[in-house]
This record gives sequence, structure tokens and C-alpha cells, in this order.
Amino acid sequence: MKVLSGIQPTGRLHIGNYFGAMRQHLQLQAENDAFYFIADYHALTSGPDPKQLKEYCLAVAMDYLALGLDAEKTVFWKQSDVPKILELAWFLSCITPMGLLQRCVSYKDKVAQGLSANHALFAYPVLQAADILAFDSELVPVGADQKQHIEVTRDIAGFFNNTYGETFILPKEHILADVAVVPGIDGRKMSKSYNNTIEIFESEKSIKKKVMRIVTDSTPVEEPKDPDKCNIFALLKLAASEDELAQWDSKYRNGGTGYGDVKKRVVELLIEYFAPYRKKRVELENDLGYVKSVLAKGAEKAGAVIEAKAEAVRKLVGCL
Ligand code: ADP
Ligand code: TRP
Repeated sequence: MKVLSGIQPTGRLHIGNYFGAMRQHLQLQAENDAFYFIADYHALTSGPDPKQLKEYCLAVAMDYLALGLDAEKTVFWKQSDVPKILELAWFLSCITPMGLLQRCVSYKDKVAQGLSANHALFAYPVLQAADILAFDSELVPVGADQKQHIEVTRDIAGFFNNTYGETFILPKEHILADVAVVPGIDGRKMSKSYNNTIEIFESEKSIKKKVMRIVTDSTPVEEPKDPDKCNIFALLKLAASEDELAQWDSKYRNGGTGYGDVKKRVVELLIEYFAPYRKKRVELENDLGYVKSVLAKGAEKAGAVIEAKAEAVRKLVGCL
């Protein structure tokens, strides 16, 4: 299958990004044609500092490569290295009703958080649709927060196909229920924009400090606790074996276990889980030439696909 996904370089990647999306990206690359990119045009909608945006782009690239992205097989690029995608987005914009975008939750949420709404933020899902449809993507692995954007992409593809004839494949989202929403240390969805993340590659000391700060209820040690309502248990689920998880589950329900003990175990598990990738991450930091060459090669390959699709659409709409 053709699998595609993008991740915004709006901060350092965190374990919510990893378990919610990146791990699936990396697993799917072996048996599919995978296309993954760093969505810096999308990141611009939230007005980042230019120098920082560049740094985050490079950091996202290093994170993916350290975690096992296969640069020989998977096409991996930075969105703005292929500006042609914006032409396709414009063609799609021209058949997208305002009402469709007005219903988008992520836009409404950002406005509710007090971010001033620029036009690009409103049009964000159209660019995302262009990203997906340009590659005839069949499967889009993402976390639950992106479900609506994939639905909108299908709607936009449908409008276009109805107007100009069958052109785009309608993609499906790939969302794993267990990891659809990884909680942050304050209990809200872990997100780069909430300052509540545990970064994949931050220092072990810092991971420990953050896990120890995770918000819990105040049930006393001796009393039974509900694992399904606990933010620490949600993190335990990500990295513990099934056997170990079952043991913690009964410890919660029986009472006698304090949240502090569970937090200590979460720290150990997270550090253990990412340890093999840390070494690789450091190697990449010392070989930026290689990282940049992977992105350049990816942009060339992605560019050829986008160019061909944009050309076909130009013809259909009467611009060629
Ligand atoms: P963020 O909210 O941190 O800025 P992005 O919007 O860049 O993250 O999301 C990148 C990918 O990671 C998306 O597929 C998104 O659904 C997924 N993702 C982000 N946060 C989480 C989370 N807390 N739990 C599960 N998946 C997540
Ligand atoms: N909107 C996505 C996010 O915030 C990033 C993204 C941009 C994306 N284009 C995409 C995800 C195409 C999947 C497919 O996570």
C-alpha cells in the first residue's frame, strides 16, 4: 500500500508523537511504499521563530533516522523543499466549500486557545489534503487528533472527482486505539503546544523529573485505584510487557501501591525503551551532511510525484 504521513516541526518530538504516530510509521515502512515528511509549511501557521523552525526541522529528521527510518526505502523529505505542493493545494482550495473548513476542530481549538487565526491556519486542512492526495496515498497513520483532517481529505477528493472526473484516491486513516491519545504530564493530550511533553531524546535526568511531576489524584497508598483513569498507568501501557502490565493492574485494584512506585517504573521503562536509539541520535548529530543528503534525495523523489500529479490536475482544471 501507499502509506503517507507528516509531522510538524513545532518543537522537539515527544513520546506521544512516537507511540501515537511514529512507531506505526516505522513499522509500516517495511511492507509498504512509505512517504513521510516534515510539515514545515503547516508549522508556519503558528508563527514560529525562523531560526528555531530550521532547528526543529533538522531535529525531526535526526529523530526519525535515529528511530529507524530506512532512508534507502522510504521517501523522507521536508515539505517546503517541494513548493509545487502549494499549487495542488490551490487547485483543491478552489473546490473546497468554506463550510467544510469552518467545521474543523483543530482550527476551532487553536482559536479557542487565543492563537490569532491567520488565513493559512484556516486553510491548513486543504494543504494537508494536497499532501495526501498528491501521492495517491491509501493509508495515513496518525494519532486520533488527525481523524477529522483525513475525513476532510476524503471529502475534498470526492468534490474534485465529482467535478473533474476520477483523479484522487480516497485515503483511510490508520489510528491505533490503545495509543490514540497519550496523556501529557498535566493530564491533557501530550502536545508540543501545551508544554506538557516528555521528549523522546531529552536527558534521562529530565525524563525522571518530568515523570515524577505527572498529575495524579490523591487516593492514599493503601486504597484501591482505577488504572483506566490514571495518567501514569497510560504511560506504563506504552512500554511495559503484557505480563508486567497485568501485575500492575492488579496492584492498582488491590490497593497498597503508591503512585510514586509506578512513576519510578515508568522512568526505567522509558529510558530502557529508547536507549538503543540514543546512540544513533548522537552519531547523526555529528553527521549532519548525511542527514541533509537524505532530505535532499527525498525531496527529489517526492518532487517528481507531486510534479506529475499537479500537471495532471492543471490539465483537468484548464490551466494547461
Ligand atoms: P503536537 O500536538 O505535539 O504538535 P503533531 O500535531 O505534530 O503533534 O502530531 C504529529 C503526529 O503525532 C500526529 O499523527 C498526531 O496525531 C500524533 N500525536 C501527537 N500528539 C499525540 C498524543 N498525545 N497521542 C497520540 N498521538 C499523538
Ligand atoms: N496535521 C498533521 C499534524 O499536525 C501534520 C500533517 C501535515 C499531516 N500533512 C499531513 C499528517 C499529511 C498526515 C498526512 O500532525
